[in-house]
Amino acid sequence: MSAGPEKAAAPKPAPEVPIRAEGLTKKFGGLTAVSDVDLELRAGEIAAIIGPNGAGKTTFFNMLTGLYRPTSGRIRRGQRDITRARPDQITALGVARTFQNIRLFPTMTARQNVMIGRHSRMRAGIFGSIFRPPWVRNEEREVWERAAEELRFVGLKPELLDRPSTALSYGDQRRVEIARALASDPEILLLDEPTAGMDPRESGELADFVLRIREERKLSILLIEHDMKVVMGISDRVTVLDHGELIAEGDPAAVREDPKVIEAYLGRGATA
Ligand SMILES: Nc1ncnc2c1ncn2[C@@H]1O[C@H](COP(=O)(O)OP(=O)(O)OP(=O)(O)O)[C@@H](O)[C@H]1O
Ligand SMILES: [Mg+2]
Repeated sequence: MSAGPEKAAAPKPAPEVPIRAEGLTKKFGGLTAVSDVDLELRAGEIAAIIGPNGAGKTTFFNMLTGLYRPTSGRIRRGQRDITRARPDQITALGVARTFQNIRLFPTMTARQNVMIGRHSRMRAGIFGSIFRPPWVRNEEREVWERAAEELRFVGLKPELLDRPSTALSYGDQRRVEIARALASDPEILLLDEPTAGMDPRESGELADFVLRIREERKLSILLIEHDMKVVMGISDRVTVLDHGELIAEGDPAAVREDPKVIEAYLGRGATA
């Protein structure tokens, strides 16, 4: 008598690691931009990735968010293997990001840009958009209001809500990008140089804001950042990449004193 179909082994209990890279590698032709990097983001933490220009930080984010397919290695979102998932699937799994080079639609208003971030959570498909039954109109109104709410949360002045995104200051455009990411209801937020182009006062405000987002939205945050004051001020843990390789990891103060890290920065004439 057959014993019936074999049961799959029960999944292991979820460790509190919302996202994890294992041996992640990306090659562009002969260049290894990211080389065998293991990195995990723990629940509720703010972790930073630092490293000189060209170290592979953005490439690492691009793999985590499905924009680049890793050459080798794995990415896990909790128990799920998302190594080959598409960007929209990864967004739907609660991973949102901002971009180093701001990517807002220039002809759209701040609010419209944030509404796009909500699309991953909308039910209306093409059918709904064309025939517009009442529930679609309700959903659109909710998205419209939710966008305003997110923009308020990130501190955009109400009078700028319906201005074209190009009319906003650089700092405000960065806020809109964060609002757009938050509109997708993420559990994990990836910020690629959120203080780029900001003066020290704005950077300080942004650092406080990142702490507030974590607190109020219960997020885990991974942040690429060049501003050491921001990194030291808000990170629980720091990972350092250099030439694609992970050269140091740990407590921010210890990492800053690590000779390998100092060498990586000074070796390129940059100041840490
Ligand atoms: N699409 C691509 N095609 C070819 N090479 C790329 C591509 N994207 C990145 N690279 C290369 O990979 C390396 C890592 O780039 P990456 O943008 O990840 O660095 P980074 O650490 O984010 O640097 P920065 O601090 O300047 O933003 C660089 O040498 C870069 O030129
Ligand atoms: Mg970068």
